[in-house]
Amino acid sequence: MLATASLAEEILQLKRERRAILLAHYYQEPEIQDLADSVGDSLELARRSRDFEGDVIAFCGVWFMAETAKVVNPTRTVVVPDREASCSLVESCPVEPVRAYRRLHPDHAIVSYINTSVEVKAESDILCTSRNAVAVVNSIPPEQPILFLPDRNLGDWVQKQTGRQNMTSWQGSCIVHATFAARKLVAARMEHPGARVAAHPECPPDVLALADFVGSTTAIIQYCVQTGGDEFIVMTESGVAHPLHKLAPGKTFYFIPAEHCNCSECPYMRRNTLEKLRDCLLRIEPRVEISEELMRRALVPLERMLALQ
Ligand code: 13P
Ligand code: SF4
Repeated sequence: MLATASLAEEILQLKRERRAILLAHYYQEPEIQDLADSVGDSLELARRSRDFEGDVIAFCGVWFMAETAKVVNPTRTVVVPDREASCSLVESCPVEPVRAYRRLHPDHAIVSYINTSVEVKAESDILCTSRNAVAVVNSIPPEQPILFLPDRNLGDWVQKQTGRQNMTSWQGSCIVHATFAARKLVAARMEHPGARVAAHPECPPDVLALADFVGSTTAIIQYCVQTGGDEFIVMTESGVAHPLHKLAPGKTFYFIPAEHCNCSECPYMRRNTLEKLRDCLLRIEPRVEISEELMRRALVPLERMLALQ
């Protein structure tokens, strides 16, 4: 405990010296969330990165989120505690097949989830997050066909919400949410019959069909805090338990383990630790470096998304 306290002091001291801001996604461990200037979902963190005026953004999340911060605020230095903090959705969608698809289907609008590499973003017409994906798809003219990258579960869900027929989804998936099993959720509902179910749209369709609410990380937190009822089954990464317990201390939250680890933790997000955060502020690396040209191209679809609401 004492070691954690002195580590936290070291981080805060370095943060002042570096004129840094600490941004953390809800899937980070509680100790990191508690030190952060802002904790949010991917959309909120992208907006917060854009508005920052200091020198260094220490991004406690995964690499694609830090790349997004760099693209929206290119004169700042952006560091991430662990360079290997990737994402299975990013890994599922290399840029070459996307370019090949674009060549074969020049009439399609490419709508990319923010969980993509900066190279894929640069090939896209507009980006989306789980929070605004329905609005983004609705912003594309109805007659224009869409390629939706790279999460098939989010793509299916958006297709259902919008009724869009001319939409093709890439076949990527999240290593955490895609392995939540409907049979475990059914068992949890039988065990806790009064509980409401909130799920992230990266979950499989049979899980989403059992949910009372589907939304982004922040939307799930708001739903659980604001909705009546004392018990909630939460189908997302268990990092959100921390803000939930702080914001709704009287309520009970159940997290259903995913198949990959018998837990609900993202193995990429959890690579970041307090020690690595201290080290990255000390050394100012691993640092996000992107060519000017790539940043310029990736900014176009990102700005289109941010302009939507
Ligand atoms: P949010 O957009 O809800 O932050 O989700 C990001 C993510 O990686 C979900 O797994
Ligand atoms: Fe990627 Fe899934 Fe981890 Fe989110 S939870 S960062 S989608 S692997």
